[in-house]
Amino acid sequence: MKKVKVGIVGLGRLGCQHAENIAFRIPNCELTAVCSVVEDEVKEVQEKWGIPYSYTNYDEMLKNKELDAIFIASPSGFHCEQITKALQAGFHVFSEKPLGLYLEEALEVQKVVDAHLDKVFMLGFMRRYDKSYAAAKQKIDNGDIGDPILIRCYGLDPASQMDNFLKFAKANYSGGLFLDMSIHDLDLARWYMATEAQEVWAIGGGYARPEFEEIQDAETGVAMVRFENNAIGIFVAGRNCAHGYHIETEIIGTKGSIRIGTLPERNQIVLLQENGAVKECYDGFLERFEQAYLSEVEEFINCILEKRKPAVTVQDGVESTKLGYACKKSFETRQLVNLQDEQLVTN
Ligand SMILES: NC(=O)c1ccc[n+]([C@@H]2O[C@H](COP(=O)([O-])OP(=O)(O)OC[C@H]3O[C@@H](n4cnc5c(N)ncnc54)[C@H](O)[C@@H]3O)[C@@H](O)[C@H]2O)c1
Repeated sequence: MKKVKVGIVGLGRLGCQHAENIAFRIPNCELTAVCSVVEDEVKEVQEKWGIPYSYTNYDEMLKNKELDAIFIASPSGFHCEQITKALQAGFHVFSEKPLGLYLEEALEVQKVVDAHLDKVFMLGFMRRYDKSYAAAKQKIDNGDIGDPILIRCYGLDPASQMDNFLKFAKANYSGGLFLDMSIHDLDLARWYMATEAQEVWAIGGGYARPEFEEIQDAETGVAMVRFENNAIGIFVAGRNCAHGYHIETEIIGTKGSIRIGTLPERNQIVLLQENGAVKECYDGFLERFEQAYLSEVEEFINCILEKRKPAVTVQDGVESTKLGYACKKSFETRQLVNLQDEQLVTN
């Protein structure tokens, strides 16, 4: 079988992990090119893993006709432009979340994806490929909890990462707490509840670190969403989690409920000593979603080889960006935001 040749842009925290997975752990593909604006980063990865091509200019990488697919793991503000250029240059495209930071640019990308239907486009909503989240979806669809009426999500990054985040917050603009952190939960809510959001109210602040307010962002926040079918969503997000990386989801239905990740336990060990019974927690997304990051890329490669489309669509990207941006707008304006509001389209 012909191997899919991949070029990746962005070699940071997640990009390096994706690059390593593509190079060594995913069947039927090879990492043929790496690209980042930081030359040392590119050279280090190229030499370490013997990658044939390296670039510090994305447009140059797109001229490489040996490549079949482009993998985008650059900061969120570049996704729309890089997706558009890659599709127009004739490549299959995987992009990290979010699709865009504004609804306007997400809608433009949707047009480009729709104009290149012979190409596979996939967005990195990897939680849908996590075994526990996928099993929960099956149980909901089986009717095991009746009609889902409320989803409660916690998406918390470790406090140990906060200094680093603040240092690069301006340069690597992430879209703010809700578009950056809650976006996975917002996507899961749409997926599980099979409905779209109608209105949003979001609040938050810089409680432990007031510097977040200086950059018009929140360190800890919550968004409450009413969906079109009257279901409820409660989305807690934060960057100050003392015990590590805490991703927890509860879906309450008319006949039961499902909880995923109630305790972010790293393993089965309980350490019993003078502090009592201690359980270690996950320290970051790479550890918690190791399997999901592999499974989503495997699916992308298989879709290319089998000429089929992934279940995660560009429409999922547009709707989640719309909802994430509505949360951000509600947080900034301190107003209830209606998703039908036409002003959401412009930034
Ligand atoms: N799916 C998830 O769970 C998950 C987790 C973390 C990050 N992400 C997403 O992945 C993306 C990258 O996040 P990260 O934490 O790895 O970021 P990072 O800051 O650690 O790395 C960004 C990389 O992109 C490079 N870069 C910056 N500007 C560039 C440009 N114009 N062209 C080419 N390369 C450029 C940087 O040199 C660096 O290699 C973000 O969009 C983020 O939202 C997703």
